[in-house]
Amino acid sequence: MRQKLVAGNWKMHGNLVENQALLASLRTQLVGLDGVSCAVFVPAPYLAQTQQMLAGSAIAWGGQNVSEYDKGAYTGETSAAMLLDFACRYVLLGHSERRAIFGETDVVIAVKFVAAQKAGLTPILCVGETLEEREAGRAEAVIARQLDAVLEVAGVDALAKAIVAYEPVWAIGTGKTASPAQAQAVHAFIREKIAQLDVVLAHNLTILYGGSVKANNAVELFGQADIDGGLIGGASLVADDFVAICQAAQSCTVAA
Ligand code: 13P
Repeated sequence: MRQKLVAGNWKMHGNLVENQALLASLRTQLVGLDGVSCAVFVPAPYLAQTQQMLAGSAIAWGGQNVSEYDKGAYTGETSAAMLLDFACRYVLLGHSERRAIFGETDVVIAVKFVAAQKAGLTPILCVGETLEEREAGRAEAVIARQLDAVLEVAGVDALAKAIVAYEPVWAIGTGKTASPAQAQAVHAFIREKIAQLDVVLAHNLTILYGGSVKANNAVELFGQADIDGGLIGGASLVADDFVAICQAAQSCTVAA
C-alpha cells in the first residue's frame, strides 16, 4: 500500500515570529501518525529556521521552487544544492502559480525536475488544468502534456523517485474543491497514463490532490482509491487545521 503524504505549501506567507509558533506546534502535534508522512514547504529565507526547528522530528521540509542551473550568474535563484544545504527532502515544481505568474514552461519545469533529482531532491511535480481548459473538455489533454514534457526529458524511470500533485487551478485558494469523484477521475487518469509505460511504477506512484483541501473535506478526498494525500495551501498556515488534515490522512490508511 502506498504511504500517504500531506504537504503544506506556505507560499509567500509567514515571518520569523509566526513561523516559530507554527513549526513548534506542528512538531509537538505531528507525532505517531503511522502510515502518513508530513512535510512543509516554506519560503526559502526560512529554510534555516525550519531545519533548526524540525530537525529530528517526523516532519520533512522542502523548497517551493528550484533553479534549473547549478550555480553562476543567476541573480535571485536558489540551486538544488542550496536546498540540500538546509536538508530539504523535497522540492515543488511546476506549481500553477509558477506557471501562470512567472511564466515557467513545461520545458523549463522538466529541466528543473532533472536538476532537482540529480542533486538528490525528490520533486513534487504539480499538474492541473484551468477552469477554461476544464470547461472546454481539455483537462486530461493539458495534464497529459504537462506530464509528457517531464517524461520526454527525464524518462519514466525518473518518476520512481518523484511525486505528482494534481492541483486544478480553479480549486486553488478559491474554496471550490474538486469533488472526490472529479479528483479521483483525474488521479486515475494520471496513474493509467503512467501505467502504459510502467505498471509497477504507476502502482507505487504517490499522487497528491491540492486545491482547497480543508479538515472537513480531507477524509472524503483521501479515501479515494488513487488519492495518496494532499498538497495544502491556506489550511497549512494554521497548525490545528494542518494537523487535522494529517490526521484525516491517517484515518484513511487505517480504514484502507
Ligand atoms: P489552497 O489549499 O489554499 O487551495 O492551495 C492549494 C495549493 O496551491 C497548494 O500548493
